[in-house]
Amino acid sequence: MRYFLFSDVHANLPALDAVLRAARARSDLAGIYHLGDLVGYAPWPNEVVRTIAEAGIAGVAGNYDSTVATDYKHCGCRYEDPKQEALSHESYAWTRAHVSAETRRWLGGLPFRIDIRPLGGHASGPTITLVHGNQHLNTVYMYEDRSDDVLRAMAASVGAREGSVICFGHTHKPWHRVVDGVHFVNTGSAGRPKDGDPRAGYVLLDVTETGTEVEFVRVEYDVEATARAIVESELPDDFADYLRTGGKPITPVAAATPGRGDRE
Ligand SMILES: [Fe+2]
Repeated sequence: MRYFLFSDVHANLPALDAVLRAARARSDLAGIYHLGDLVGYAPWPNEVVRTIAEAGIAGVAGNYDSTVATDYKHCGCRYEDPKQEALSHESYAWTRAHVSAETRRWLGGLPFRIDIRPLGGHASGPTITLVHGNQHLNTVYMYEDRSDDVLRAMAASVGAREGSVICFGHTHKPWHRVVDGVHFVNTGSAGRPKDGDPRAGYVLLDVTETGTEVEFVRVEYDVEATARAIVESELPDDFADYLRTGGKPITPVAAATPGRGDRE
């Protein structure tokens, strides 16, 4: 069974369109899922939600989705410095002011977690679990440098056994590790990558009786179209440069700690 996974679109409609074109060009997919954070940071939250809804793509609630849906006081994001914090608040306020009631309701209906049994639920076999952050909160960041013990605890908490796959997003940096036979897959970001590659990212996940394969794929999209739309909106212009550089701020932030300096 082959699955197409993507995460953290963040209201970037051209990036979403490119990812969905890649998905629709395939005829070998058992399922297409998103891993949350459909809104925030770019000017098309309603359009992204409508596109996902009309395509019938299931997925989980990211921190941005659930805080917008519940009118929470902030987006549950982490900031690396006061400037980034101020920008993040602007994005959250803009998004809350621009999402329709329908979008908010729809975001509120997203499940926290999805479990898939690729070989069938009628027999014991691997499970694919989708969450946004970790199994407890969609605000927890699962970075690649998490210890084996942290990943083991996650697997135990989720109920994952050898061969199972736990997928999450939230950090916007794709990675794949295997600990005690359990696969941990960070699906990166479709609409706001932070690994220095501005192209939209998605994951092809193959789970068969003989094993599991994970492929990270990047696809070009019209980054400038999104950047222009950000500049023309009341969203901070910094977000345009952020997309152009794949999350490498043009002015490096001296206080940022490597690997921990992300927000969202
Ligand atoms: Fe995100």
